[in-house]
Amino acid sequence: MTASTDTHGDSRLTDLVSRLDLETKVRLLTGATSFTLHGKDSIALAPMAFSDGPTGVRGLKFTGGDHVALFPNATLLAGAWSEDTAREVGEMLAEEAERQQIHVVLGPTINLHRTPLGGRLFEAYSEDPLLTGRLAAAYVRGMQSRRIGACLKHLVANESETLRNYMSSVVSERALREVYLLPFEIAVEDAQPWSIMAAYNDVNGVPATEQHHVNNEVVKGDWGWDGLLMSDWFATKTSAPAALGGLDLVMPGPEGPWGAALVADVESGAVAEAVVDEHVVRLLRLAERVGALGEHRAWPSESTAPDAPSRREQLRRLATDGMVVLRNEGAVLPLAAETRVALIGRHAVETICMGGGSATVNPPYQVSIAEGLGGAMGESVVVLDGVEVRLRPVVADPDTIRDPETGEPGLRASYLDADGTVMAAEHSSVASVATGWDDTLPRPTEQVVLAARLVEGGPVRLGVLGTGRWSIVVDGKKVGAPDLAAEGQDPGESMLKPPAWTVDVDAEAGSLVEATVSIVRREPQPGPDGKLSTLSHVIASGMGVKGLTVAPVPAVAADVIANAVRAAKDADVAVVVVGLTEEQETEATDKSTLALPGEQDALVGAVAEAANRTVVVVNSATPVLMPWAQDVEAILVVGLPGQEGGHAVADALLGVREPAGRLVTSWPAADGAAPAWDVVPDGLALEYTDDTYVGYRGFHAGLSDAPAHWLGAGDGYGSWEYADARLVQPGSAPTIEVRVTNTSAGASREVVQAYFHPAEDNQPVRLVGWTAVEVEPGQSATVEVATDSRLWRSWDEQSGRWGESLTGGQLVLARGLGDIRARVDL
Ligand code: BGC
Repeated sequence: MTASTDTHGDSRLTDLVSRLDLETKVRLLTGATSFTLHGKDSIALAPMAFSDGPTGVRGLKFTGGDHVALFPNATLLAGAWSEDTAREVGEMLAEEAERQQIHVVLGPTINLHRTPLGGRLFEAYSEDPLLTGRLAAAYVRGMQSRRIGACLKHLVANESETLRNYMSSVVSERALREVYLLPFEIAVEDAQPWSIMAAYNDVNGVPATEQHHVNNEVVKGDWGWDGLLMSDWFATKTSAPAALGGLDLVMPGPEGPWGAALVADVESGAVAEAVVDEHVVRLLRLAERVGALGEHRAWPSESTAPDAPSRREQLRRLATDGMVVLRNEGAVLPLAAETRVALIGRHAVETICMGGGSATVNPPYQVSIAEGLGGAMGESVVVLDGVEVRLRPVVADPDTIRDPETGEPGLRASYLDADGTVMAAEHSSVASVATGWDDTLPRPTEQVVLAARLVEGGPVRLGVLGTGRWSIVVDGKKVGAPDLAAEGQDPGESMLKPPAWTVDVDAEAGSLVEATVSIVRREPQPGPDGKLSTLSHVIASGMGVKGLTVAPVPAVAADVIANAVRAAKDADVAVVVVGLTEEQETEATDKSTLALPGEQDALVGAVAEAANRTVVVVNSATPVLMPWAQDVEAILVVGLPGQEGGHAVADALLGVREPAGRLVTSWPAADGAAPAWDVVPDGLALEYTDDTYVGYRGFHAGLSDAPAHWLGAGDGYGSWEYADARLVQPGSAPTIEVRVTNTSAGASREVVQAYFHPAEDNQPVRLVGWTAVEVEPGQSATVEVATDSRLWRSWDEQSGRWGESLTGGQLVLARGLGDIRARVDL
């Protein structure tokens, strides 16, 4: 196996590399800490700092940390089907990065929504490769225009989370090229991202971090990409195979599988030193691009605060623009100002504004829908909490606890060494800390004490999250001593879905809760692949999130529903907010059903029966089942709307701004009814049996019953007539034109979508272009949709290259394939 050579020969960078000895070069190729790299004064290389992405720049700390702006999640942003939006988001994230002196933002996530069970879909744009690729390119252009590096992730075929470190995505070369690599190719070709992240999983039996074919032959070779390929965190398993397989940088550090092992591999001749040099050249090129090599960039002295009025305005507007109206019988929406509203649901009072995992940030505030709509409509809104929506305890809302020393919202965390000496004690504005990850203390942390006073008394469900041996004391009295071990075999799972324990207690307001956890280090165990790896050591080290949970003891569902029904009867309109939480929409685990958790369906059903009119607001990023859909007048999907969420939802409900988004993924009608469903690998192999028939393409081909809603669906507040569709520029990748008339009473935005239905039986239908237009009521506009030539190609498995472009068939203009408006023969 040979490694590709860097053909972008930059002699200055090569010169710099030649001044470094082997050990120094190899040292540069593993992170210095969780999120920073080593610098090297002799060549004027500053240490670079990386931060997650993708919808908020978290900073260097995994939990807590500074307040940063929380953006609407990726699917909601994508819902606008707007490259301008994506570009603006890229620019805003770059500003957030500059304020924190971060050089590279670890986003966008451009894996596809293959099966709706994927836990991490909320972070990724769509099931469609064109939409994903074009939005990613615009985001990268926006971000890099401010000299902040973007990082496309995760290369490649990382569409689900189950056993993500060990499983192999089994994908045909054709599906890779036409579908899963395509968003990366589009972003590389159109926007030249400065870095890419190699995924955890294997692809066809070879780890993504060692994928000579994908990394060297396709991305660095065929596409001529000259950026830096870093590993996902702890994903690198080997030295020589990864170094030869195109990986440039191992993250995080300072430990890792390269270091001395890679030096030895070079010395033994297993890896040519030129391969190491090429990795360093790419690292230096990135450094140069972001201003960390030679003359270092000056960071702005003034920047937009995460809660500045201009930021609030942007986040609110961007959130509303992606929201999708799926149903609006009798034009119940937008709500008239004087409508008496019963606003019902746990998600109304605790709106879920972000997903879980590494995309999580610590925002300055999060506006609930109750606050947003209540603020806009005043006394005409009555708010009622809904049924319980969580199946597991969650980290306490910082407003429910106080640091016993400072009285601030949040808790006090103390870190003790083996002698019981307190090495550090600090305030945390969130109710969790991450040990072995964020704590850069002189000696290893052996114990952590989390202390907080309860704001409210009464029956409380108290508890802890995280591995280790715990002792929980309330006002000096021990209430529990659980010994909690990691549940999954994935370090991400033990980190991001930590084991939990709770107890119901009667506590007084001001009660002092002290939870002490002794870190338990276990013998590293081989993973499901039978191998001991970095991951085994990470899990065994006991590192991870440790947190406090505090919540009211849940009310009986039947009582909650009875109260909701009473309130709904008294109102003109019941607005029920339902949804998922970060239990379902998170990194590191997948879903097992699309059903709403808890008794939410029963709540909607009962309210819909009692209310004059019912509007359901769906607070989730990804599809849910809606067995009550025909019984309610309106359905508005609001995604995970970010810190301005409640205001943005109020704007949408009241028509202050049109929720003109379109679905970015098809919504199945039932569990299992999708072209791809299972996320549990067979052995360790997950076959991509749907091949190139991802999402709507597979539904259209009859691989599954029709979805409840198709990709591209969404009514906004307009209604549209299409006329005079014709090809204006025939040939390969033709352009199509159509006249659209807004037949509604208000100005509205239409997304004209063009799908190519090839003549060949073995070619799926596919989105080939779209154009959005805003039209005044009663007016028409002629809209041109240019189609993207990359969607007219077909991969020829036999010759291993792109075949002739497809030509015959039809172009279809549709508002999602469930609402086809015109067909033009090619
Ligand atoms: C995720 C990456 C993320 C990294 C650093 C990993 O668990 O898969 O997307 O950038 O952590 O937080």
